[in-house]
Amino acid sequence: MSLNEIYASKVVSAKEAADKIKSGDRIVLGHAVGEPAAVIEEMIRNKEKYSNVEIVHMVAMGRAEYAKTGMEKHFRHNSIFVGGSTRDAVASGRGDFTPCFFSEVPKLFKKSLPVDVALIQVTPPDEHGYCSFGVSNDYTKPAAEHAKLVIAEVNDQMPRTMGDSFIHISDIDYIVESSHPIIELKPPVIGEVEKAIGENCASLIEDGATLQLGIGAIPDAVLLFLKDKKDLGIHSEMISDGVVELVESGVITNRKKSIHNGKIIVTFLMGTKKLYDFVNNNPMVEMYPVNYVNDPTVIMKNYKMISINSCVQVDLMGQVCSESVGLKQISGVGGQVDFVRGANMCKDGVSIMAMPSTSGKGKISKIVPILDEGATVTTSRNDVDYVVTEYGVAQLKGRTLRQRARALIEIAHPNFKEELIKEYEKRFCHRF
Ligand code: COA
Repeated sequence: MSLNEIYASKVVSAKEAADKIKSGDRIVLGHAVGEPAAVIEEMIRNKEKYSNVEIVHMVAMGRAEYAKTGMEKHFRHNSIFVGGSTRDAVASGRGDFTPCFFSEVPKLFKKSLPVDVALIQVTPPDEHGYCSFGVSNDYTKPAAEHAKLVIAEVNDQMPRTMGDSFIHISDIDYIVESSHPIIELKPPVIGEVEKAIGENCASLIEDGATLQLGIGAIPDAVLLFLKDKKDLGIHSEMISDGVVELVESGVITNRKKSIHNGKIIVTFLMGTKKLYDFVNNNPMVEMYPVNYVNDPTVIMKNYKMISINSCVQVDLMGQVCSESVGLKQISGVGGQVDFVRGANMCKDGVSIMAMPSTSGKGKISKIVPILDEGATVTTSRNDVDYVVTEYGVAQLKGRTLRQRARALIEIAHPNFKEELIKEYEKRFCHRF
């Protein structure tokens, strides 16, 4: 059969594809903005047909209808990273949470969470029969490689990304054709606090450094202060629109990178159409599975690797909670520890935990004597190095517990310093 005939033999409607999924199956959904909406919508429409279908997902950027009240008889959401659309399901017991470093998620699909169906979204095939994973390579590609059945939504609006980012049509069981814009993530609002944090982080970034930036206002604020730097590189779990501007202005060249010289290396993307147009057929951007991009032994090989991540609370010993408020799971470890460790292992590397000094409209200090009851220690005190707030930079590695506590109190919000100093003096039997 020719490639065209192979392709045509696999094309089905979204309803026919949804019919291939059976009660009791474990489904892995394409990650983040790579979620294949058409087949999921069909499953929701015909929910009565299904019972006990486990839906494994990470950052759910779609509507996550399967996690809503009333769906629990049909679908059980198993989350590797809780977001706005899935927090309530996990908190109220309709869904589950599975802790896992992002770099190790592919291994879950090989061993402890075998995949019945991978539901993915890809580009149309090229002349050799290869479809690109587009905006989501991360665990989506490994899930497709380990799944018993692969159902792919072929969307002609999916950007074609390079690197190890392809699946051949012969490895897809069913194809659903679609044409819709990729989900967009609007740029965050960057306020004065974020700008001050961005400026403090930027003071730790030297020319030629390789950056990992998380998602949200703080990473975007950091980018604002990099306009005068030279020859920066990117090796990051994800990138957003801010990176495009720095490439266009010649700040990000990837010229000093010690591995993948000249290339932006990333495992997934979330931004606006501007980002998706930028990566489309762009040999400067290479996408690889997350077990490669987030592997600390790969990250460490980069030149002057800098990781910048955010968190919920830091205690006076430097223990970092990034994923729960007390017992309530609000996100996940994601690639935070992968990159903290990779940057720490890198010669001349720097790992930064950047956060506003307060939460809850200034009523809650994020620097605390003791983490809230039930809070997760996401990044341990042995791993954490720089902590940055709008009030400055605290460097913790090589410091005693007492020195750490002092450094952290120095960058706490002034409204909470007195209380923190009291705790310091009680704990260390020492005047501040
Ligand atoms: N006490 C109580 N609530 C707190 C809090 C604290 N110390 N810190 C944050 N919160 C609450 C906020 O009020 C907010 O609640 P809401 O959604 O009901 O408004 C929620 O937690 C999220 O906080 P916010 O400051 O809006 O989040 P953010 O978008 O800046 O993200 C993290 C912060 C920590 C959730 C995010 O960086 C994360 O998930 N990190 C771990 C994963 C990671 O680092 N991945 C690697 C890079 S992609």
